[in-house]
Amino acid sequence: MKMLRAAIQVSIALFVLLAALLPWGCQAFGEQAKGKPALDVPYEPTSYKIAREMLNIANVAPSDVVYDLGCGDGRIVIMAAKERKTRGVGVDLDPTRIRESNENARAAGVTHLVRFIEQNLFDTDISNATVVMLYLWPEVNLKARPKLLKELKPGTRIVSHTHTMGDWKPESEIKVEGHYLYFFIVPANSTGTWRLTGPDLNTASLKLTQRFQVVQGSLSTGSETYPVMNGHLKGRSIRFTIESPRQGAKKIRLFEGSVSGNVMEGTVKDKTGHAIGAWKAIRDAATAVSIAE
Ligand SMILES: C[S@@+](CC[C@H](N)C(=O)[O-])C[C@H]1O[C@@H](n2cnc3c(N)ncnc32)[C@H](O)[C@@H]1O
Repeated sequence: MKMLRAAIQVSIALFVLLAALLPWGCQAFGEQAKGKPALDVPYEPTSYKIAREMLNIANVAPSDVVYDLGCGDGRIVIMAAKERKTRGVGVDLDPTRIRESNENARAAGVTHLVRFIEQNLFDTDISNATVVMLYLWPEVNLKARPKLLKELKPGTRIVSHTHTMGDWKPESEIKVEGHYLYFFIVPANSTGTWRLTGPDLNTASLKLTQRFQVVQGSLSTGSETYPVMNGHLKGRSIRFTIESPRQGAKKIRLFEGSVSGNVMEGTVKDKTGHAIGAWKAIRDAATAVSIAE
């Protein structure tokens, strides 16, 4: 009899325990079903010191439009507005974060400069950003990379807190409070075949390929073909070197210029940096390929 009573008591205790635990289990499992967004990255705020360095590394100025993709409590765009008079847009999938951002913008007196949108960053139109801030995860950066390269204008600056962009190498990086900040500049698209004119060149054919900001290719003039060396794009600014043998010595020409759609133009310099004339290239538009990888 004693044993039966003990068994009943244990069963009741187990039942009570299960009944108490069940709602917790259901809540954790059913968060999304209850309307919580499925975040790609959990919330973790950037420290104010790091946020300020992110603005510094991108040289944020009043003429900029700063986007924070996954903006948390809005601190980066609010700081840019308060300290640099910059317009900004924060995007976050979590309504709690958007509510906090709006409250923080009101408290900082910058609601006329900033806007917060409850949206998936992958669905957000980012084409009018001049600076983009990211504090995501490595694989989310990689997923966002084609969108950044496709939608952002050449010259748009990107700062990524902690995480790289895979094989898209940063222009620079710094370490603050033990965290790396990576700085990128969206390159123009220089790919394809260009008809180039310049000093000592009547008309040459310039064929370029590009991986992010690194440019490679060849320049053909008459029967000669030379490799494009040290090719680099920083936004719309392009530079590359052509070396051609001349009477045993090397003739080095540095091409510096700017890419605007299907036209590139600039200055040719000799190896001492002395300008020796202007160059211009026109692209066969059909030969350009996407750089959004
Ligand atoms: C690590 S926190 C960074 C917050 C803020 N950028 C900062 O640096 O203080 C990442 C933020 O991204 C948001 N997030 C995650 N996935 C998202 C998505 N797909 N679209 C928009 N926001 C997202 C999260 O809600 C979170 O607030």
